[in-house]
Amino acid sequence: MSYVKGLKCRECGRSYPKEALFVCEWCFGPLEVAYDYEAIKKNFSKKLLETRVPNMWRYKELLSIDGEPLCGSTSGFTPLFEAKNLARSLGIKKCYIKDDSVNHPTLSFKDRVVAVALSKAKEFGFRTVACASTGNLANAVAAHSRYSGFDCYVFVPFDLETSKILSSLIYGVNLVAVEGNYDEVNRLCAEIAMNFHWAFVNVNLRPYYAEGSKTYGFEIAEQLGFRSPQNIVIPAASGSLVTKIYKGFEEFSQLGLIPEFKTRFFLAQAEGCAPIVKAFRENSNIIKPVKPKTIAKSIAIGNPADGVYALEIAKKTKGFAEAVSDEEIIEGIKLLAETEGVFTETAGGATVAVTKKLLENGILAKEEEVVICITGNGLKTQESVQNHLKPVIRIKPSLEEFKRELKGGV
Ligand SMILES: Cc1ncc(COP(=O)(O)O)c(C=O)c1O
Ligand SMILES: [Zn+2]
Repeated sequence: MSYVKGLKCRECGRSYPKEALFVCEWCFGPLEVAYDYEAIKKNFSKKLLETRVPNMWRYKELLSIDGEPLCGSTSGFTPLFEAKNLARSLGIKKCYIKDDSVNHPTLSFKDRVVAVALSKAKEFGFRTVACASTGNLANAVAAHSRYSGFDCYVFVPFDLETSKILSSLIYGVNLVAVEGNYDEVNRLCAEIAMNFHWAFVNVNLRPYYAEGSKTYGFEIAEQLGFRSPQNIVIPAASGSLVTKIYKGFEEFSQLGLIPEFKTRFFLAQAEGCAPIVKAFRENSNIIKPVKPKTIAKSIAIGNPADGVYALEIAKKTKGFAEAVSDEEIIEGIKLLAETEGVFTETAGGATVAVTKKLLENGILAKEEEVVICITGNGLKTQESVQNHLKPVIRIKPSLEEFKRELKGGV
């Protein structure tokens, strides 16, 4: 039973059939999946959720597939926990971490989008899956493609972190390192998609793929006891995650699962790649592409596909878009690790650092609550922090030597 009616243009509203399409041929607007909410309302409830196992497919009525899921049975339902030490350190009343640094199997929120995209790719009859990626997406496409039996090509910028490269190669897939930045990789992939009958998860399957990010928002609402938070801070690269968390809260509200939501959305970017923040600061609706230069490579997208929509959400929810320097990102990674024992990657460092900055500037209210979105794992971006940590204490296996070190003030 599928509740997917078809695709709909976000700009002009024209309808399209359920095919591997992603752009409106009339106005070039992006296509989005449209659902039959009346029918979903009759069949989807909190009671039904109680019977479901804790993975991302517990919300399958609100996801963009027609049949049963192909993969992702271990993805999603990651911890949402109250971060008391971090809250104390930041001086905010209540702070929650939604922790996709431990999402299964590839340690980022991208396992969610890929599980949906590959399930859809199978329905469409594709044999080969591919993606343009800043690293995490490639890891997820690589892992899920093996499990699901697809041939796989992942395209990334050549200068990614070692672990992001290795975490794709380990699956035995074809990794193409393009001598350019993400935006150049993406442009190349759009061209390849027109020449090869491949499912590029974030190009020709983008409308279906992006829906997977809604599960991150559904889970936050469910784990808070079926309500949306007062404030949420989200890292933004293409801006898709921001728009889909918003759509997730909107759908839950429309279905009566949560009260009308008033969450304020705060976007986090790195100063070295902050096209959305720049438009926000200039009070402009136009996002001018930038050339990325930051250690936060996973969110280094200079020409964000969903940037205008993410920007619109920050504005209409009375949120904000803010950026931080690479130094602040490193401090953000360390702060989360030292307070909560969570090792996040650079995107998470940016999110924590932006939260801190917004609190210091009085933009986020200290007497309110905030959910901080941690979307990836620090083991994949070790280069960013390796020269910013305490030195290792190296000793001979001798008690005397250890005591000497201790006296030395270690
Ligand atoms: C860890 C991490 N967080 C956040 C994002 C941003 O995602 P989006 O492109 O949906 O804005 C990415 C994108 O690759 C990512 O890898
Ligand atoms: Zn259109």
